[in-house]
Order: sequence, then C-alpha cells, then structure tokens
Amino acid sequence: MTKIERLGVVGGGQMGGGIAEVGARAGLDVIVREIDDDAARAARSRLWKSLNRAVQKGKMTEAERDETQERLHFTTTLSDFADRQLVIEAIAEDEGLKLDVFKQLDELLTDPEAILASNTSSIPIAKLAGATKRPEKVIGVHFFNPVPVLNLVELVPSLLTAEDTVERARNFATEQLGKQTIRAEDRSGFIVNALLVPYLLSAIRMFEAGHASAEDIDNGMVQGCAHPMGPLRLSDMVGLDTLKAIADSMYEEYAEPTYAAPPLLKRMVDAGLKGKKSGKGFYDYE
Ligand code: 3HC
Repeated sequence: MTKIERLGVVGGGQMGGGIAEVGARAGLDVIVREIDDDAARAARSRLWKSLNRAVQKGKMTEAERDETQERLHFTTTLSDFADRQLVIEAIAEDEGLKLDVFKQLDELLTDPEAILASNTSSIPIAKLAGATKRPEKVIGVHFFNPVPVLNLVELVPSLLTAEDTVERARNFATEQLGKQTIRAEDRSGFIVNALLVPYLLSAIRMFEAGHASAEDIDNGMVQGCAHPMGPLRLSDMVGLDTLKAIADSMYEEYAEPTYAAPPLLKRMVDAGLKGKKSGKGFYDYE
C-alpha cells in the first residue's frame, strides 16, 4: 500500500495544527494552509510552541524538533497543494466553506490516487464528496483534541467511498501516525460526538437551570467518574462556537431535543465567549 509522504492540512487551528504536528513528527512533508499571513504566522507560532514543549518534556530532542520544523510549511495559497497525496480539511464547521475547499482541491490535486479527507465532526461526508469528481476518494478522518495526546481517529466512509480509500486512510492513521482507528457510518456526530455532545449540552442545561456551579458540575464528573476534565471545561476547550455548530448539524440530522443547543450556549457564542481560545467561556482564561 502506497505510504503517504506529502500531506496537506487546510486550516491551522487547534485541530489542523495538531494534525500537522503529528504528521510532521511521523516524518511526513506537511503544508498547512491558512486564510491570510497573520493566521499562518499564528498557526506556525502555536506549532513551534507545542514542539518546544515536547522538547522540554523530553519527548523529542532539539535536533528532532529542528528536523520536524523543516518538514512543516505554511501557505495561504491552496494551489500549493497540487502534489499532495492526502489533504485533510480542518476548517470551521461551516458546510458552505467546506464545500468550496473540496471543490477547489478536487480541481487542483494532480495525483489521481490523492485522498481528500475531512476532520469534520458532524457534516455528512457524502455532501463533501458531492462537491468533487472523485467521491470514491473522499473520507472522514476525525481526530480528537489535543491531537498529539489523544490516540483515536474515527474513519468515516460515505456511501460512495472506495474500500481501498478506507484502507489507505487506516494505514496512514495506524502505521504512520501510530493512532487507533474506529469506523463509523456517515451519520452526523459519528460515534464519539454522538455520545459526547448530548452530555456536554446536558451539563450546560444543568448550569443554565442553576442546579449547581460550573466548578461543582465539573468536579462531579472528574472525581465521581474519573473523567480527565469536566464537561464545562471540556466545552471551553472544544470551543463554544464549534460545539454549537456541531450541535446544530446534529439537530438538523436527527431532529431530537437532546442535540438542540441550549439558549445559554447560543447567547455565549453571540457574545463572543467562545471558551479557552477567546479567553472566556464557562471559565476565565485571561
Ligand atoms: N499538545 C500536546 N501535548 C499536550 C497538550 C497539547 N495541546 N495538552 C496536554 N498535553 C500533554 C502534556 O504535555 C502532558 O504530557 P505528559 O503526561 O507526558 O507530561 C499530558 O498531555 C497531560 O497534560 P497536563 O498534565 O498538562 O494536563 P492534564 O493531565 O489535565 O491533561 C488533557 C490535559 C490531555 C487535555 C486532558 O485533560 C484530557 O485528555 N482531557 C479530555 C480531552 C477530550 O476529551 N478531548 C476530546 C474532545 S472532543 C473532540 O476533540 C472532537 C471534536 O470533534 C469536538
């Protein structure tokens, strides 16, 4: 099976940056595309910080960090991806934006075997495949945050994805990145978010109803169920805008109240309180 040597990542945020980092650490040549120079500089600086932290923690040597940095390139131009064998889209959970990226990538990738993947949590892979002339090469490859720490990748073929594409994506995730994979049908939320998102939304409803403080809700799940972090702190880490976008897609898919974004979540996003990345959410990070 052909190994992936040239990876493209569209979006250098917390998920895209993490995917680029694990790809470069696994020896791949990686290009990260951001929307403008400022965003590209910010993505690079987050990645360099993460690699420096790995050096400080003794997880890589300075020489390995330098080699990893040499494998990481940043661009604002999607056409730089022409020679990529695999492109993973990791931009905001906005269907229109994603469709546009898939259409452009389909037109510019020169390798007929190139795989077009999305890190979406909730947008149907079949819709993204529909924007391309190579639906058999389109697949969901869903990572978990923080990508360098969490071992899982969900593989999500659509009804049109070729089995060979699934196997190449599995090989990439397991043999090249050292992750474990699980396979899910192309249903909004796949496996993990279909279970996690209703739980996070329930915690927000509980807080909104005044049942308990944010600290006590979180402490309850950390101490009582041995979760590494409580649901409100985890919502802040995922990003409240991202959580709302995922909930909205899942509600559109299933039309069940369990997926409906609670009013407090909507108002916080309206107010620019997006969690950790904006400095404030259920907790203050400033
Ligand atoms: N990048 C790289 N390494 C990181 C990191 C990051 N962003 N954040 C933490 N780490 C490493 C630390 O270096 C440390 O490594 P060490 O044990 O070798 O020293 C280890 O992770 C533990 O970190 P800390 O000691 O700083 O802090 P914690 O023990 O509190 O762990 C955590 C932090 C890893 C974030 C942990 O709390 C955790 O796993 N939380 C749950 C995360 C989770 O549920 N993620 C899934 C979100 S859902 C999702 O991503 C899907 C999407 O579609 C919404």
